[in-house]
Amino acid sequence: MTPFPLPPGSTIGILGGGQLGRMLALAAARLGFDVAILTPEADSPAGRVAAHVIVAEYEEPGALKTLADLCQVITFEFENVPAGAVLELQRLGAEVAPNPRALAVAQDRLEEKTFLNQAGIPTVGFVPIDSEAELRAAFRRFGPPLLLKTRRGGYDGKGQIWVEKADDSAGALAALGQLPAIAETPADFRREVAIIAARGRDGEIALYPLTESHHENGILRRTTAPAAGPPRPHAEAERIAATLLTALNYVGVLGLELFERDDGRLLVNEFAPRVHNTGHWTLDGCGVDQFEQHIRAVAGWPLGPTAATHHVEMTNLLGEEALTWANLAREPETRVWLYGKRDHLPGRKMGHVNRLSALDSPRR
Ligand SMILES: Nc1ncnc2c1ncn2[C@@H]1O[C@H](COP(=O)(O)OP(=O)(O)O)[C@@H](O)[C@H]1O
Ligand SMILES: [Mg+2]
Repeated sequence: MTPFPLPPGSTIGILGGGQLGRMLALAAARLGFDVAILTPEADSPAGRVAAHVIVAEYEEPGALKTLADLCQVITFEFENVPAGAVLELQRLGAEVAPNPRALAVAQDRLEEKTFLNQAGIPTVGFVPIDSEAELRAAFRRFGPPLLLKTRRGGYDGKGQIWVEKADDSAGALAALGQLPAIAETPADFRREVAIIAARGRDGEIALYPLTESHHENGILRRTTAPAAGPPRPHAEAERIAATLLTALNYVGVLGLELFERDDGRLLVNEFAPRVHNTGHWTLDGCGVDQFEQHIRAVAGWPLGPTAATHHVEMTNLLGEEALTWANLAREPETRVWLYGKRDHLPGRKMGHVNRLSALDSPRR
C-alpha cells in the first residue's frame, strides 16, 4: 500500500505523452515530484519535460512493469489508453488514479450516457446502433435528425456524423466504418458550457467556475471563464459534477461538457476522466490550476483553491497559428503556452493563449 499523502521526491507515472501530460509534469515538478511518462511516441511533448520516459506501446508488459516499479502512483492524460494496460498496472501492485472503472465508462459513449442517467444526470436521448435496421428504428422513435457517433475512440468531433433522414442510414454507418455506434437526439442548446471538477482521496470536492465553450469544426476554439449569465446554471452544474464524482468514487480532475438549453436547464454531453482543454484557463486565472489540482488529488494532498482570480479568454493555437508566438508574446495581458510539437499540421493543438482581464471589468 502506498502511503498517502505522497511526499515530495516521489515519482508519479503518466500514461500518455501529449500536451496534457506535459502540463501535468510541469505542475508535478513544481511540487517536488518526479514524473515518468509512458508513451508510444518518441520525442513527445510530455517526455521532453519529464524525469523518466518509457517509449513503448501502452500494453507492452515490460514497459508496464518498469513504470509500476518506478512510480508511487500512476495516472493518465489520454482517455483512450487500453483498459487492459491499466488493469495490468493494478495487477502489478501499482496505485492507479482515477480508477479504471471511471476510465472504462468514459471510453464508451453508450456506457457513459447510461451511467449518467442512472446517477440521475440528464443527457440527450440516445440508443445503441449496431445495424441499419436499428438506425431506421431510431428515426421512427425520435424523428430526424440524429447524430450518429462511434461508441469509442472519437475526439475533436471525429467519428460522428449528422443523419438527416432514415434513408441515409446505410451511408452514415458506412462513413463511420460500420463501428459500434450510438444515435443521439439534437441537444437544442443555446450555448455549450463546461466545468472542471476535482475530488481528493478523502472525498473532498473542489469545483472550478462554469465556463463557456466555443467549438469550430468540432474542435474547441475558445473558452470564456467564468461564464457570464445568471447563477442558476452554475449551481446546477456544480450539483451535477459533485454527483458524478461521487458516483464514480473518483480521485483526480475530471472535465465535464454540458449543453445549456434556452430555459437554462443543463444536459451533460460527455465527461473526460482527466484534465481537459476547457480547463486551460485555470493556468492563469485561478489560485491552483487544474494540472496542479490533479497532481494534488492523486498524490493525496489537500485540494487547492478554485475561485477565479481573473477573467480569462483561452484561445487554442491550431496548426500554423502557433507560428505567431512572437506577436503574442508582445501582448502584456496574454500568457503564451506552447506544447513543443514539431509539426504544425492543420487543426493540430500546438498551444494556447490565456488573455487576462480584471474580474470586475467588462468582458473583452
Ligand atoms: N447531441 C448533440 N446535439 C447537438 N450537438 C452535439 C451533440 N453532440 C455533440 N454535439 C456537438 O459536437 C461537439 C463534439 O461532440 P462530443 O460528443 O463532445 O465529441 P468529442 O468527443 O469529439 O468532443 C460538441 O461539443 C457539440 O458542439
Ligand atoms: Mg466533446
